[in-house]
Formats: sequence, structure tokens, C-alpha cells
Amino acid sequence: MKNVSINTKQALKHIPTPLVEAVSEQVYNGYKTLIRRNGPGNDFLGWMDLPVNPDKKLLERIKNDVNEQKKKSDIIVVIGIGGSYLGARAVTEALNFSRKPSFPEIAFAGNNLNALDLSLLMDKLDKRNYSIVVISKSGTTTEPAIAFRILRQHLIKKYGENEAANRIIAITDKSRGTLKNLSDMCGYPTYIIPDDVGGRFSVLTPVGLLPIALAGYDIEKILEGAGAIAEMCLDENQAIYSPAYQYAIARNVLYAAGFDIEILVNYLDNLNYVSEWWKQLYGESEGKDGKGLFPASVSNTTDLHSLGQFIQGGTRKLFETVLQVDRVKYDITVPEIDGDIDNLNYVAGKSLHQINKIAQKATTSAHLEGGVPNITIAIPQISEYSLGQLIYMFEFACGISGYTIEVNPFDQPDVENYKSKMKKLLKG
Ligand code: PA5
Repeated sequence: MKNVSINTKQALKHIPTPLVEAVSEQVYNGYKTLIRRNGPGNDFLGWMDLPVNPDKKLLERIKNDVNEQKKKSDIIVVIGIGGSYLGARAVTEALNFSRKPSFPEIAFAGNNLNALDLSLLMDKLDKRNYSIVVISKSGTTTEPAIAFRILRQHLIKKYGENEAANRIIAITDKSRGTLKNLSDMCGYPTYIIPDDVGGRFSVLTPVGLLPIALAGYDIEKILEGAGAIAEMCLDENQAIYSPAYQYAIARNVLYAAGFDIEILVNYLDNLNYVSEWWKQLYGESEGKDGKGLFPASVSNTTDLHSLGQFIQGGTRKLFETVLQVDRVKYDITVPEIDGDIDNLNYVAGKSLHQINKIAQKATTSAHLEGGVPNITIAIPQISEYSLGQLIYMFEFACGISGYTIEVNPFDQPDVENYKSKMKKLLKG
């Protein structure tokens, strides 16, 4: 199996060696803090071991639930927000090109307060068989709780209380929170989110694994890919060669050199939710105590016609991390036409993916000339295995980076601020 790899040479080319060396030492200290599990937030490091010893019983239970749901549901509604949905959405959208029609469709809900989304979904659910997977670690988050109240009522109306109870699965804390209490009261089966895994690091727990498996994708391959990176990262002699460690060095050196906005760039829009997941992971983990790289994203070539101007010539504090996909499953070759009336025969015979790769090469070169350093992450092809590798790589590099800039990467104290104001206003 070919592995995800990273190229940081171009990114670091113009950075003075003493700065690279100084930051590399800080990153090494960050790595040691993470690996020795003695930094702030060290009670939230359970994600590090998830792919190392996959929980066989959990995988078996998921398999059974998938078989059951395949028989009775055309649609699975996954209710959750932030870390309780972005990982599953990232993986299912990235793999959508290989979707098997014998598995249910996945619909996401409870990740915003847009009534239009929910009413369009309910119109669809009126006509199809469906079940609900509701995910919330705290069990009290407003958006998914509201969506669950509305959709649970819809489900009960459609199937009655008893059958509805066979069509709801909750993923939540083992003992705390409203969702846990409600599930116990109504007899809904629950999967547990481990205490030592925070929301944005939970994609390899039932939070991500159950919805991804319900969509028909191979979760064991995801864990295998993640495990291959974990093996390197957790071995103090090998870690420095891992793409996670190399990524942590490059982005922290660039941050220290004054580049404080990192743009994750893709050239295939089925990776857009990988970017959304990545933004949450890094934004919530690093952005505190007045520090942190601001994580942004673009999807090219679409965004070359919108943000491209800014990236090429605007404020010079950006760097790019490009997700480069080497091979795609579906491609189309541009036909040659007689007379070349649209002046496009110069691309005839080339496939869209070949042209896309040339666009990437040209853009990277132009952006480098414009003073935008470039890290490239090469993905052999989009698959469960490579997505597993990416997930673990980004999580591990995030842990190292947080400790490198001396923040606790595993809490999010500042999000409480708006929440308490909102609750106060809602309660009048
Ligand atoms: O990373 C986090 O902890 C958060 O982004 C949560 O995932 C998000 O707020 C959803 O929380 P919960 O799962 O408690 O509903």
C-alpha cells in the first residue's frame, strides 16, 4: 500500500537556518511532551492509541448495526456538529465516488440552525425509510439537540414509539448529559465516546466509525492507514521521519517566520470537508492565549478565480499546504475537434486530472514567486487507507504543534463565551 508523504523543502527554502534549527528544537520538545503524555490536557490523549489496538468488539457491533440498518433504512440521518460530525462527513464525501448503492444514503443534520435544510430533509424523509444516529459528547449542544427533538418527533409520527426506538442510535458520554439520560429513558441503544477523547479528535471512535461504516466504507482500512502512521509517530526513533512530524516542523517554522495564516488547498472538491474537519481541528486546538495559525482553506481551481488574486498578491502572511492527489478513479479525456473552433485542441488528448495537476504545478510556482511558501502532501489516491493516514497525521501534528506554541491543544475554553450569552438571550 502506498503511503501519504510530505514535501516541505520549498516551504523552508528561504527561511534562515538558525530559525529552522531553533524551531525544530521547540517542535522536538513539543513532540516529547505529547509522547510522554505529561503536558496540559494529557487526560485527552486516548485518540493516540485508537488505531494501535482497534477495539474488536466495537468493530463487530458496528458490523451488526450496519447489517441491520442496510435492511431497513434508505437514509441514515446523522445528527451532530463540530467534532461530532465533521470527521464522518469528511470521509464519506471524499469517498463518495466509490459509494455502493446497497448501503443507505447519509444525510447530515443538526450542524446549523437553517430551517430550510431541515424542512427539505423532512420532505425527503416523508417518502423514504430512515433511521437516526445522534451524536453529542456533552449531550447538551443546542443545534443537534434541537434537530434531534424535531426529527425524533417526525420519526415517532412515522413509525410509532416502539419502532422509532429501533431506529435511533445515540453516541454520547458513558454516563453524563441529557442525550444519555433521554436514551436510557426511551431505550435507545448507545455507543460510548471514550472519556479521554475530545470531540475534534474523535473520528476514529464510534463518532466517525459508525456513520462511515453505515455509508458502506471500510473502517478497518481507515484504522489500518491511521495505524501505519501511528506506528511511526509513537516510536521515538522513527517519528522524525513521519509526515506528521515533518508537517509540524514546517508549519511551526513558517509561523515563527511571520506567516500566520495557513491555507489548506485541494484540487478536488470532494476533499472540501477534509478541509472543514482540518480547520476545526487546528482552529480549536491552537487558537488560544492570543496565539495560533489561522486555518483557512481553498478548493482549486474554483478558488483561483476568487481568492487566487489575494493569495498571489495580497497581504504577505500566508502559506499553503496542498493536498495533491496523484491518481483518481474517474477521469475524462478532452476530445479533439475538427477545425479547433473553440481553440482548445492544445489540451486535446489530455485528461481533466492531468490538466488539474498542471494547474497545481503552475499555481504552486506562481504563488512561490509571489512569496507564498508551499508544503505539499502527496496522497497516492483517495481511499479509506490514505484518509486514515491523513487523519492520524493531522491529529498528531496538531498535538505536537499545540505543545510547541505552549497552549493546551485539547481544550476549547473560549467557545463557552458565546454559548452562555446565547443561552441567556434564549431564556429571556
Ligand atoms: O472539539 C470539540 O470538542 C467541539 O468542537 C465539539 O465536537 C462540538 O462542540 C460538539 O460537541 P458535542 O459533541 O458535545 O455536541
